Amino acid sequence: MARRRQIYEGKAKILYEGPEPGTLIQYFKDDATAFNAQKKGQIAGKGVLNNRISEHIFSSLAGIGVPTHFIRRLNMREQLIRQVEIVPIEVVVRNVAAGSLSKRLGIEEGTQLPRTIIEYYYKDDALGDPLVADEHIACFGWASQDEMNDIADMAIRINDFMCGMFSAIGIRLVDFKLEFGRLYDNDYSRIILADEISPDGCRLWDMRSNEKLDKDRFRQDLGGEAEAYQEVARRLGLLQREGEDAGAVLDLDAHRNKRK
Ligand code: TMP
Ligand code: ASP
Repeated sequence: MARRRQIYEGKAKILYEGPEPGTLIQYFKDDATAFNAQKKGQIAGKGVLNNRISEHIFSSLAGIGVPTHFIRRLNMREQLIRQVEIVPIEVVVRNVAAGSLSKRLGIEEGTQLPRTIIEYYYKDDALGDPLVADEHIACFGWASQDEMNDIADMAIRINDFMCGMFSAIGIRLVDFKLEFGRLYDNDYSRIILADEISPDGCRLWDMRSNEKLDKDRFRQDLGGEAEAYQEVARRLGLLQREGEDAGAVLDLDAHRNKRK
């Protein structure tokens, strides 16, 4: 069998040519990076967990009418997706102050924001993904005004849905990053949700303990990152409590006790 063609390799995923025109295979790696890839490492089993978590969230979003690139999961690390042209904007939705918002504006981490904030970052590694305004997006033609309206509407719907989904399992959705793409149909294109939604690009805090269950464990050298991702998957009902999965939960408890 011929080796399939690699289309793109990113920091956490690889895209391969799909079985039919207009499709791609998205492969989830265990590689983790932070601070624009200045910090590099691996989180054991992350690719498998993010594949499952992202499948779950994208399928749920499709269920409430949000169009996404996700078609179906193929195996432990791969999913079949629609090929889109990625809009070069990272869309960050914030409910609680944390990360770069806290740093930039001096707002204490954990402060509930009086209203949800949507921010846009221009996707350019060489520039370190700078924060940009709608004006820059319009001026440089990164997306049209109609596309930005669709993106903002979808981001709010996704946030409302995900806040509810996570609060039902005792997790506070602090903030998260989305990417969108253009799906072409002859001369027309429409905006759909692309990339992934996983603990790599979300801040997820346990509601009772405020424990971080996301990539901040890696960014801040807190340890227990694999266990945190497993805990998110487990609470979403994506892992059984038997065997190795139950072991992972116990590991997180051991980790918590060690830090007390
Ligand atoms: P920030 O506070 O560092 O700007 O991050 C906001 C959210 O976006 C957080 O949930 C992590 C996510 N994020 C990414 O997914 N990729 C990135 O490159 C950065 C900087 C943040
Ligand atoms: N994904 C980013 C990078 O390494 C950073 C982050 O998620 O914090 O470029």
